[in-house]
Amino acid sequence: MNHKQKLWDGRFTEATDAFVEAFTASVEFDQQLAHHDIRGSIAHATMLQRVGVLSESECREIVDGLTGIDEDVRAGHFDWSVALEDVHMNIESALTARIGDTGKKLHTGRSRNDQVATDIRLYLREEIDRICLLIRKLQSGLLDLAEAEADTILPGSTHLQVAQPVTFGHHLMAWFEMIDRDHARLMDCRGRVNSMPLGAAALAGTSYPIDRSITAELLEFDTVAANSLDAVSDRDFAIEFAAAASVLMMHLSRWSEEMVLWSSPQFDFIELPDRFCTGSSIMPQKKNPDVPELVRGKTGRVFGALTSLLTLMKGQPLAYNKDNQEDKEPLFDTVTTVVGSLTAFADMVPAMRPRRDKMRQAALKGHATATDLADYLVKKGIAFRDAHEIVGNMVAEAISRGLDLSELPLDVMQAKCQTIGADVLDVLTLEGSVNSRNHLGGTAPSQVRSAIAAARKRINE
Ligand code: ARG
Repeated sequence: MNHKQKLWDGRFTEATDAFVEAFTASVEFDQQLAHHDIRGSIAHATMLQRVGVLSESECREIVDGLTGIDEDVRAGHFDWSVALEDVHMNIESALTARIGDTGKKLHTGRSRNDQVATDIRLYLREEIDRICLLIRKLQSGLLDLAEAEADTILPGSTHLQVAQPVTFGHHLMAWFEMIDRDHARLMDCRGRVNSMPLGAAALAGTSYPIDRSITAELLEFDTVAANSLDAVSDRDFAIEFAAAASVLMMHLSRWSEEMVLWSSPQFDFIELPDRFCTGSSIMPQKKNPDVPELVRGKTGRVFGALTSLLTLMKGQPLAYNKDNQEDKEPLFDTVTTVVGSLTAFADMVPAMRPRRDKMRQAALKGHATATDLADYLVKKGIAFRDAHEIVGNMVAEAISRGLDLSELPLDVMQAKCQTIGADVLDVLTLEGSVNSRNHLGGTAPSQVRSAIAAARKRINE
């Protein structure tokens, strides 16, 4: 390209190397920020007019020009140019092409450094709000399912071995709590995203009489970044977002693993709706849980983004460095992955159909009420450690007879321990077990129902 076509080439004597031009350009991905970039520019121009740096007519021309460009971009009519490097210079050039020399005044008192930092924050703030809404949607679906399954019993596990009976509603409410912390983490992160870098200019601020509070108000930022060097170089907020997103994806990945196991013929605890599964091109009987598998797999991308962003920042001296251009793709990919995963889950999770009979059968195997029997003996005056030993013997007896502990005849139990009375039979039932765990945070159906009611209030606040 003929040099003297860049917005910054006044001091240059030869054109940029063609490879370097493509290598350093970001427009292919940062064009996603166009709307936020334009919004930031409109606020900047409006502020410049209010403090007397731009005239009213200049400001009007700029705002009208930018509004037209925004429409073109949205309609897909904008011609992005790699030679113009990034979203900022593409839009500024289009403005000047559209309104003439007044367009050249837009960049007064700012730099792409504070501009891009502002754009990413505007972008991320909006995406965090979208993600938080999706979390709430998923949570409300979970609450409805938990309510319907408050009395359903399945074997609770530790070490993936049958441990104690729990209610399915209780298990789903565990999922609810996990993702509720994700919501809180994202909202906390949003507070630090919502601080405005604009006005820091390249790094040291600007000599024009700017009023940053005007721009902040127009852009709905809560605060103005307090130090210009920090404002242009800080990407902590992006790292925090990726960290919160990583924990969120780790949770979705764990749920995925459970759904994959539960929908297998070996467990057969749930049926996933056909619309979330796919078949095999060779095995006609297959119905594969692709959506949870893919979410489990996509989790790695988000962990990768967090590592990329941390590594991106660790060697940077103050203030802005071109390295920072590399913040966008991991951030965009994280947003796409999280939004996609939550969209699928918000629809799929509440639609999974539990097979209550299969859950119950499984809970009736594996001696799930052994702890209840030990607790029963303790209540009859036996020390817990002795009770543990006695019940262990009974479990061995049950195993040798091919029975579950709860199926052992009363006289056989009494032969092992005279303290046992006929009242033990209630204790050994699944309902007896879950109903007895009737305290705050316990698995008893009545506790699950009050946990659901409290959670509903919490998410509607
Ligand atoms: N495309 C750049 C980025 O994403 C914009 C800021 C460039 N600033 C500069 N001084 N080269 O970070």
